[in-house]
Amino acid sequence: MDVNGKPYRTIWLKSDNPEIVQVIDQRFLPHQFVIEDLVTLEDVCDAIASMHVRGAGVIGASGAYGMYIASLEAKRNNISDIQSFLINASEKLKATRPTAVNLSWAVNRQLEAIIPLKDDIEAIITKTLQIANTVADEDVDFCQNIGKHGVRLIEEISQRKQGETVNILTHCNAGWLGCVDNGTATSPIYEAHRRGIKVHVWVDETRPRNQGSTLTAWELGQQGINHTIIPDNAGGHLMQHGLVDIVIVGSDRTTYTGDVANKIGTYLKAVAAKDNNVPFYVALTYSAFDWNISDGVKQIPIEQRDATEVKYIKGLHEGKIKEVLIAPENSPAANYGFDVTPARLITGLITERGICQASKEGIFSLYPEKIN
Ligand code: MRU
Repeated sequence: MDVNGKPYRTIWLKSDNPEIVQVIDQRFLPHQFVIEDLVTLEDVCDAIASMHVRGAGVIGASGAYGMYIASLEAKRNNISDIQSFLINASEKLKATRPTAVNLSWAVNRQLEAIIPLKDDIEAIITKTLQIANTVADEDVDFCQNIGKHGVRLIEEISQRKQGETVNILTHCNAGWLGCVDNGTATSPIYEAHRRGIKVHVWVDETRPRNQGSTLTAWELGQQGINHTIIPDNAGGHLMQHGLVDIVIVGSDRTTYTGDVANKIGTYLKAVAAKDNNVPFYVALTYSAFDWNISDGVKQIPIEQRDATEVKYIKGLHEGKIKEVLIAPENSPAANYGFDVTPARLITGLITERGICQASKEGIFSLYPEKIN
């Protein structure tokens, strides 16, 4: 998407040195637009774990590029047992963040391709780069297709409201910053805006890291889309008063039965949506499906992050980004990163292949090759 008139993805190769991967360092948004060079495997692991990059799509792409960087590192350091080195690298990458399945999906895709190449380092470097580029390009295309399918839902509401503004609520950042481009949940919104449909987005601020108020609001502002930041707990009230027409969120992992893990607080939005008959949709690409598990609440690993993210808040003060303590220093805090919304609360899934019910039947109707 464009930032100040220039097109960007969230991850790419440095133009004058393709051995360096560049990312938008999202920790500084919306105040500063910072680009970071990732040169070593350690850099990539830290960028994912410390959330310089975050969001399932770009976490997956970072994992894929991480394996390319690890291959370059193996060559640079004259590693003799290349296979063991890369298996070890894959474990390090996969351990950075546990919930988004896109990460292990992308890293495993690389591993499968590397194993037959044995210790041919040049062939491994070529292959890992090719796969990383494919993972990134696919994410861009698939997110674009999510937009084309999902816009129908917004169009229908707009028609029903005779062209009045469609109010969409979203949680966290499932926008282009969370992917490689376009976004999952935001893609239908961008497409609606392009088609001239009047939209307004309620942006949950998304404590504790505020991905909504810092990232989604910034993205929407850059694209000229009407939006309002709301505290996380406001959604239920807005729904009770008819101020939300549809909820669209992203997903970090979705079981083949339709249970969805997404940023903490998503579940409560789904409960409120159900109580108020507001359609609740989840937008995701196929890389966010976990084809091995059927019970999201019991089986999806939920990341727990450092308590300091809850107790400190980051902001701009006199031109500098600062963190301030907002709780008693000695009080413990719990920081669950994600929750699981059971399929029964979800109206439908918007994927690159179309819209389906959040159920085994619905999902397999779009992905028949996954039936075994
Ligand atoms: O902790 P984050 O910021 O990585 O969490 C991101 C989300 O929960 C997004 O909604 C999700 O990854 C979908 S974006 C493709």
